[in-house]
Amino acid sequence: MTINYINHELYMEKVRLYDIISKVGTPTYVYSKACFMSRITRYMNALKKYQTATQKHQIHYAVKANSNLTILKNIAAENIGFDVVSFGELDRVIRANGSAKKNIFSGVSKTEYELNAAIALGIHCFNIESEAELNQIQYLAEHNKTMIDIAFRVNLDIDPKTHPYISTGLEKNKFGIDIPLAKKLYLVAAKSSVLRPIGVACHIGSQLTDLAPFSDALTRVFDLVSYLKKNNITLQHIDMGGGLGIPYEPTMIMPTIESYIDTLCSPLQGRSESLFLEPGRSIIGESGVLLTQVNLIKHQKNKTFAMIDAGMNDLLRPALYHAKHRICELKVRSGSAESYHVVGPVCETSDQFCSHHLMIKPGDYLSILDVGAYGMSMASNYNTRLKPAEVLVTDNTWHVIRQRGSYHDLCQLEKI
Ligand code: LLP
Repeated sequence: MTINYINHELYMEKVRLYDIISKVGTPTYVYSKACFMSRITRYMNALKKYQTATQKHQIHYAVKANSNLTILKNIAAENIGFDVVSFGELDRVIRANGSAKKNIFSGVSKTEYELNAAIALGIHCFNIESEAELNQIQYLAEHNKTMIDIAFRVNLDIDPKTHPYISTGLEKNKFGIDIPLAKKLYLVAAKSSVLRPIGVACHIGSQLTDLAPFSDALTRVFDLVSYLKKNNITLQHIDMGGGLGIPYEPTMIMPTIESYIDTLCSPLQGRSESLFLEPGRSIIGESGVLLTQVNLIKHQKNKTFAMIDAGMNDLLRPALYHAKHRICELKVRSGSAESYHVVGPVCETSDQFCSHHLMIKPGDYLSILDVGAYGMSMASNYNTRLKPAEVLVTDNTWHVIRQRGSYHDLCQLEKI
């Protein structure tokens, strides 16, 4: 994370965060460009070690983690692909100068409208998640008189050992196709005159803190690939999804990007398939903070609440997954810290950000850390609150990359 205290005040890169607040207000997401660009460079360098004439390992940034247009534009400039799960995300990628040809279209249930629009834009590969979707895409390919490249997303029944809400690779989850059915569907797709099965995909979960489940997943994928080879189906790529976690607590031991790539690329050496990855959180998560103001302090029973102006509509992760994000003061006061239950203004008991030791007074500003991924992209207007503004910091400069909007904007699409 590129934030630091200088003379007791919090900076991101060379920008004093208070300078942003004084112009833009709170709550505001602020991202460090250097931070997320360095993650992309690390991914690319780690993959480069394993590239061969036939194996073109690639990352496809998972747009759902953070879909701000400026962020996407910076990422697209690195010449990497994108993983999208809706037409809305694909539309954003195109607006940000990304190429549809480098996109993977994932998602457990795509509508006919989304599939047709993505076919028209020439998406690189569709990840198919059910027999029904295979039939749907076969029909649309025939109807559009076009050849479509597909991969099947398989459900490997692997426990990623993460929060149950972000675990996707278990048999009981709605995602993917079990191996026996996948084997059958590959044979069906291979006979089609309009579909070309070029890959296999899986995504076992998010915020993984251990590499073993990724290795297990790859071993199971290899078994499937061997079966397909025996049946004259040769795949070009193995897409292992996203999922590498980030250290939300400084004490958390987290595998590095490099060790993650080594774990997946070493077993691929000497084979023909390229590795595709769809990282989201490990690229953008640590680059973002949410700036917020302490509105008031409330003493109740044996508790002291710090009521901040950011709520679960701005950052849903704590309410939805009991996620704990570190919080720090924008300006360090002298004195001793007290324990506060940090809560938002939304009318829900789950609108809370855990308890923290802080030195604060009403009116002070705080920074909630590591919120670059699944922060703004999951924000809503619940309680008719405006979504936060967004700012990008580049070295010693900063720009608003999304305005806060107005109450007028919120009502514009409605009719009385
Ligand atoms: N590919 C697929 C098919 C996915 O479903 C996901 C995330 C990713 C890639 C990116 O995974 P990542 O590298 O970011 O872990 N809202 C939750 C996370 C949900 C993740 C959903 N899928 C959170 O705030 O923790």
